[in-house]
Amino acid sequence: MESFTDVPRIKESSDIGQQQDRVVTEEEWLQKWKVRQIGFHKEQGHPILRKYLDVLLNGRSGLRIFFPLCGKAVEMKWLADMGHYVVGVELSECALKEFFTEHDLSYSEETIPGISGAKVFKSTSGNISLYCCSIYDLSSTIVGRFDGIWDRGSLVAINPCDREHYADLMLSLMERSCCYLLVTVLYDSNKHKGPPFYVPDAEIKSLFGKVCEIKCLEKVDDFSDQHKAWGLDYFLEVTYLLILKSVP
Ligand SMILES: C[S@@+](CC[C@H](N)C(=O)[O-])C[C@H]1O[C@@H](n2cnc3c(N)ncnc32)[C@H](O)[C@@H]1O
Repeated sequence: MESFTDVPRIKESSDIGQQQDRVVTEEEWLQKWKVRQIGFHKEQGHPILRKYLDVLLNGRSGLRIFFPLCGKAVEMKWLADMGHYVVGVELSECALKEFFTEHDLSYSEETIPGISGAKVFKSTSGNISLYCCSIYDLSSTIVGRFDGIWDRGSLVAINPCDREHYADLMLSLMERSCCYLLVTVLYDSNKHKGPPFYVPDAEIKSLFGKVCEIKCLEKVDDFSDQHKAWGLDYFLEVTYLLILKSVP
C-alpha cells in the first residue's frame, strides 16, 4: 500500500525550527477568505480522498464523518451524497455560506448552546452540519464522536504550539472504530514560514502514537510552481491512517 517510489530523498528533520513560534491568528484566516487568498481550496476535491475512500469507509455505510478546519471542501458534498453524515468546523462564515451556495444546497442557521457567538449551518436535507467557530470550542458533548475523519489542510494549518491540544481533541472525537485519514506535508521548513506547516513523521508519532496505530499509506512528490514561488525545491504530501489501538 505504501508508495514511496520517485520521491526526492530527503533527510527528515524532527526540528521544526522557526515555525515552532509562528502564530496565524483567527483574524488572519478570516482576512485570507476576504481577500481570496484561498489557494488551498481544491475545486475538484482532493485525489487522495478518492484514492483512499475505501480505507476511510472500511466497508461501512451511513457513517458520521468529521472535517476539521473544513473551509468549503467539496468532498463534504461528495460524502453526503453517498449517504454519510458530514460535520465540519470552520472559522469563516463566508467559507461555509459559499459551500452551500456553490452546491445549491438550502440550509438553516442555528446558534450553538454553550458556545457564545457561534453558529451551526445545517443543510435542509439534514446530512451536513457545519459549525462556524474555532475547533477548540468543540467537544464530543457538542458534536458527538465520529466513524471517520478527513484531515487535509487541518493539522498542517493549525499553529505548531497548538498541536497537542488539537491532537487530544481529535482523539476525543474518535469512535472506537474510527478511521482517521491524515494528510501532512514535508518541505524545508527553513525556506517557508507556513502555513501549511511542516509536520515530521516523528511529530505524528509523538502526538498520536500512544493511543493509535499509525500507518503511512503514501508519501508522494507534490511539488508545483506555487511551492517553487515559496522558495522551496521539494514538497511532499504524506498520508497516514490512524486507528485507535485495541484496549486489552
Ligand atoms: C488550509 S485551509 C484548509 C481547508 C480545507 N481543509 C481544505 O482542504 O480545503 C485551513 C482552514 O482552517 C480554517 N481555520 C483556521 N484556524 C481554525 C480554527 N482554530 N478553527 C476552525 N477553523 C480554522 C481557516 O479559515 C481555513 O479555511
